[in-house]
Amino acid sequence: MSDRTSRQQPSDLDAFWLKEAERLDWMTKPSKAGNWSWAEDDLRIAWFEDGVLNASVQCLDRHVAAHPDRTAIIWEGDSPDVSERITYREAFEEVCRMANVLKARGVRKGDRVILYMPMVPEAAYAMLACARIGAVHSVVFGGFSPEALASRIEDCGATAIITADGGRRGGKTIPLKANVDKALEKASGIRLVLMVQVTDEKVAFEDGRDLWWHEARDDVTPDCPPEPMKAEDPLFILYTSGSTGKPKGVVHTTGGYMTYAAYTHEKVFRVEPEREVYWCTADVGWITGHSYIVYGPLANGCTTLMFEGVPSYPDAGRMWAVVEKHEVAVLYTAPTAVRALMRESDELVTKHDRSSLRLLGSVGEPINPEAWRWYHEVPGEGRCDIVDTWWQTETGGIMITPLPGDPMDKPAAATKPLPGIVPAILDADGKPIEGPGEGGLVITQSWPGQARTVWGDHERFVQTYFSTYKGAYFTGDGARRDEDGDYWITGRLDDVLNVSGHRMGTAEIESALITHKAAAEAAVVGYPHDVKGQGVHCYVILKEGYEPSDELALELKKTVREEIGPVATPDRVQLAPGLPKTRSGKIMRRILRKIAEGHPDQLGDTSTLAEPEIVDKLIEGAKGFK
Ligand code: PRX
Repeated sequence: MSDRTSRQQPSDLDAFWLKEAERLDWMTKPSKAGNWSWAEDDLRIAWFEDGVLNASVQCLDRHVAAHPDRTAIIWEGDSPDVSERITYREAFEEVCRMANVLKARGVRKGDRVILYMPMVPEAAYAMLACARIGAVHSVVFGGFSPEALASRIEDCGATAIITADGGRRGGKTIPLKANVDKALEKASGIRLVLMVQVTDEKVAFEDGRDLWWHEARDDVTPDCPPEPMKAEDPLFILYTSGSTGKPKGVVHTTGGYMTYAAYTHEKVFRVEPEREVYWCTADVGWITGHSYIVYGPLANGCTTLMFEGVPSYPDAGRMWAVVEKHEVAVLYTAPTAVRALMRESDELVTKHDRSSLRLLGSVGEPINPEAWRWYHEVPGEGRCDIVDTWWQTETGGIMITPLPGDPMDKPAAATKPLPGIVPAILDADGKPIEGPGEGGLVITQSWPGQARTVWGDHERFVQTYFSTYKGAYFTGDGARRDEDGDYWITGRLDDVLNVSGHRMGTAEIESALITHKAAAEAAVVGYPHDVKGQGVHCYVILKEGYEPSDELALELKKTVREEIGPVATPDRVQLAPGLPKTRSGKIMRRILRKIAEGHPDQLGDTSTLAEPEIVDKLIEGAKGFK
């Protein structure tokens, strides 16, 4: 057993990262590692600048040369009766074909392509096909609405979309193409909609714009030379929520991101590529799906499992049935799934053979010690280590985590940074806290997987991450360091919610609510939720002439679904007579949070409120919620 406290940090970071970059197949090897400045007036981040490579080559060509018949992707369908194994050679050919189809339809290096896909192998092909020709993909989670899709299409100026007729999840069908059609009533600039046939849904077809993948693939060859890309050419944009405004298009580039995805995937999961099956249950619409279903595992030549469905279908034993069926060695999932499954009978787990399991991972939100223990004891039989990995869309890959073999004596601690990552905890004045203590979690040295900018708005990138603490990347999270130097993530310090591992901005939900004709003002806060981690509590003030009713509350929930998507559906809508504001008009969210959390006794000082009597009415109104 290794000792966590002695995890080695390299003394020369540049030399360390240059060495790590050697795990990739470069067309031109880089001669230098980082070239970055985090000064507010000169913020730039570059890694391996003079290197040239193609991301799809890392994931395909070199494995086709070495082990063409190894399974690259095991695809498990929504229905337990359907699965498929795809070799590296087959994946390579499909990716080349898709790349050729895109090329034939005029998609060029640097163009932006939106992917709005279900969890089918073609989603991975589409990402890699874009990478192959140097197009920049932006995957939009299938649970987002046409409105949300339209705003992302517009923001990145996409010219093509890859989607499916529909998606299957838990026995239901999601009308992806119909959503695309609706989005395209609002967003302009799309010349191609490439559509994968998944569900046999009846869909509209616009000649000249729409194209069926199964028809187009037969007209092209299974060979497409990879576009040589500079290390700093963008690989993808991924939209994520912050505390203000619309979601930001976080930009990741090619050389640094690929190095970091491959490095962290190997370091944390230690998969034996020729023998073990690795399964990350995320959706490709999130960063976890990018780094740990597609780019990381495929760069490392692993067999990656892609699951179309949900852990609760056809029953809550599905996850363990899949582990048994495909002899999964490493399972990487989210605490929300663990919490949902631990409410069910343990027999749903134990009736499945889990002897193949070696390592369990957790990602996306804090895992509570109770869920950690259950995950360790029941699915993991007390013999599988747990890696509770802390990271973010912006970090590109895992940053702070226990490693397999570490002592498993601190359930739910993030423990130590990976070699090459230099975190610090700062106090309110921006001074580093040495030794035990709690404060804002920052990273003090750049690393290759770091996001480079916000698409089209570099200033927003600078403001969001580099203005709170001078010269450091601020994560938005709080952290505590214990006596052993181990890190514990304490949660977001800003107005970002984490609902079932999905990151959401309260401002986004508020904007969605006030698109309803009856809503005058809204304030959204999170509250602890047994399964989701956080639930969404909305306080809505109605306009003159509207009376509170259950129907109106329901309508407001529906409005959020339509504006953002089912993932953001509020758990509670409280139609309130007013909001607690200071005399200068600032909403006191602390008070709203305490009320939603069910702690009206902990409101603290309310004397600065313009109308203190509002508070009692809000407390009364919140009593109806469980
Ligand atoms: O608050 C942290 C939480 O999720 C945020 C990042 O969300 P996102 O960009 O969507 O990326 C999710 C996948 C990495 C973080 O700022 N978070 C993520 N992992 C953990 C976590 N909180 C506690 N423990 C974790 N392991």
